[in-house]
Amino acid sequence: MPAGGSAVICTHQNAALSDGWVDDCVVECPLHMSRFDLRTGAVDAPPAELPVRVHLAEVVGGEVWVTLSEQAPNLPPGVR
Ligand code: FES
Repeated sequence: MPAGGSAVICTHQNAALSDGWVDDCVVECPLHMSRFDLRTGAVDAPPAELPVRVHLAEVVGGEVWVTLSEQAPNLPPGVR
């Protein structure tokens, strides 16, 4: 899962990227196959045009620590 414990929504339409596929540092949306870089959130392949929000994750003493981003997510049209 790219971030946190909840599904991250694709910026193209309402699809959960947690249902997609991860290959190296890229996640592919299960609906129309947009691809996002998991390190930056940048679009790697269309049809999505806006990046997904990412959160800083680091391993500290064998535990994964996540710092939630303060940026608003780029939600797809019709999703609040
Ligand atoms: S909903 Fe993800 S690419 Fe369309």
